[in-house]
Amino acid sequence: MNLSPNIELKSKLEKPEVIGAVITQRKNKVNLCPVNWQVVSSEYKSPMVVCIGLSHGNYSREVILATKEFTYAYPSQEQLKDILYCGTVSGREVNKLKQMALQFLPAKKNKCPILKDAVLNFECTLMQTVEMETFSILIGKIEIIHGSDKSALDKIYALGGMEYGVIEKVKILQTGRT
Ligand SMILES: Cc1cc2nc3c(=O)[nH]c(=O)nc-3n(C[C@H](O)[C@H](O)[C@H](O)COP(=O)(O)O)c2cc1C
Repeated sequence: MNLSPNIELKSKLEKPEVIGAVITQRKNKVNLCPVNWQVVSSEYKSPMVVCIGLSHGNYSREVILATKEFTYAYPSQEQLKDILYCGTVSGREVNKLKQMALQFLPAKKNKCPILKDAVLNFECTLMQTVEMETFSILIGKIEIIHGSDKSALDKIYALGGMEYGVIEKVKILQTGRT
């Protein structure tokens, strides 16, 4: 009996998965890496954290371990093309920012900038790292949250099968918990 996880089932029923952007800076070089492996904690407990899963070969992981900070952002729909491009090349080899239109703004606490025109930006400082076989889970404490005039429905999603898009509508089924 094969008890290994059924990845096709996960892909079919778990998508859409929100796409986040991890922004780092080492010396003067700003870099951006899109991620699906992400969890942002609820506002109920302090500290609020962002958890991201980054492959061991990933340049952003290396920079975060060295600088102890990163920005986690939810890019908006106009940024989709550039965000996906950033997932096809590594900042170790190229300066991604020279190849695209994304713009950045200075952060308030961190050296690493925030993503202009994103839905939300979280300035994070590295709290803890959990090492797995092929990747690391980096846990960042959310220091500052930057909002925008975008809507929550401007966030972008991996829809499965190399398709990417937005969720256009939400439908309220109930108001209140009982
Ligand atoms: C939509 C999307 C989601 C991705 N999610 C992850 C992820 O969660 N973790 C990861 O390590 N790489 C992920 N990747 C791949 C990285 O973005 C890719 O390897 C990137 O080139 C790494 O850039 P860097 O080396 O400059 O950090 C994703 C790529 C795309 C396009």
